[in-house]
Amino acid sequence: MTVYAHITGWGMAVPERVITNHDLERIVNTSDEWIVSRTGIHERHIADDHQTTASLAIKAALKALEVASLRPADLELIIVSTSLPEHLFPATACLVQDRLGAKSAGAFDLLAACSGFIYALNMAAQAIRSGSIQNAVVIGSETLSRLVDWTDRNTCILFGDGAGAFVLQASNVPAGVLSAVMRSDGSGGELLTVPAGGSRYPTSLETINDGMHTIKMNGREVFRFATRVMAQATKEAVEKADLTMKDIQLIIPHQANLRIIESAMRSLEFPMDNCIVNLERYGNTSTASIPIATCEALQDGRLQPGDKIVFVGFGAGLTWGAALVEWSGPVPGLRKVRPERYRLYFRLRSFIRRIWRHIEAFIWGRHNPSI
Ligand code: ACO
Repeated sequence: MTVYAHITGWGMAVPERVITNHDLERIVNTSDEWIVSRTGIHERHIADDHQTTASLAIKAALKALEVASLRPADLELIIVSTSLPEHLFPATACLVQDRLGAKSAGAFDLLAACSGFIYALNMAAQAIRSGSIQNAVVIGSETLSRLVDWTDRNTCILFGDGAGAFVLQASNVPAGVLSAVMRSDGSGGELLTVPAGGSRYPTSLETINDGMHTIKMNGREVFRFATRVMAQATKEAVEKADLTMKDIQLIIPHQANLRIIESAMRSLEFPMDNCIVNLERYGNTSTASIPIATCEALQDGRLQPGDKIVFVGFGAGLTWGAALVEWSGPVPGLRKVRPERYRLYFRLRSFIRRIWRHIEAFIWGRHNPSI
């Protein structure tokens, strides 16, 4: 029997703190008029010190689990797509797994910049369709404000922080993720990069003094690349599902720049009215932008069960991709689950496991004094 991967839950989380274009006028040599006319962005949400990639991811995932009425313990896979993980390791997804209490889930991070959510969605859908798992959560979470050079007007005006999550579940009903394309072109890697902090340029006084730990971007080239691949990837995903653009009710694109989105919709001859745009309030939240835009489309009643939609994105790498989904929504008739309620129990469980690990290490050390 064919198995389909349905999106049955969704959630988003954005920091409360908002930075407007007028606030940025006081930081760099720019203007609200320039930013709005070149990007469409009016304001963005920026994480406070206590907010991190993991904390935003957990908030979004809890909401998604609640919509799906799924207990965290029923999750079998957690993928966190991010460009700024909590640490190089452990994976942010493992921290999310612990805090959710998803005791049966494998967890890993996925790095494909702004295209990451589409890659993660596709990976989780493939795992479900293969029959190896039943339930997964994919999360796009970013705190790119911490990678931005706040003296560089070319980049600091663009990015915002936030997270979005989808729960995916197996079903025999034909719908859910129907097709996906994932592409990359590493020859354009230097067009959008954070050069240092990895194996190539480990952190040193020199890399810090040279400002190599913040985002460097060739905006014009990224713009040219983006306008080309957005339409191309959308068409490929539609063809792969044996559909035509006439079958598509809604496009939810990566929210980088209004001009990029408009140009892609023109090439596709797809009406802007059927394209979700919310970047004016969030800026570019990278891999979180597509699930955040989806949550808002649902909230506004613009996305209904049965609709066929295309998610399409691009980003550093260079990477790009698209996924075609027939929207279904939560599995009907399930008993309401409040994942938030399990949190205290799982925090306690996590605490006890830590203590127990110390006790075990102590006992092990006494019995094996040479170790
Ligand atoms: N305020 C005022 N002037 C500015 C600003 C600013 N914030 N930024 C740049 N300018 C100036 C430039 O210095 C330049 O001046 P010059 O002509 O004297 O040199 C002029 O404005 C025009 O600069 P352009 O770079 O040609 O401006 P453009 O219209 O291309 O817009 C932008 C720049 C908004 C960055 C655009 O190129 C863009 O959006 N590119 C795509 C970026 C993107 O989407 N990146 C994210 C990818 S997703 C990911 O993986 C994270």
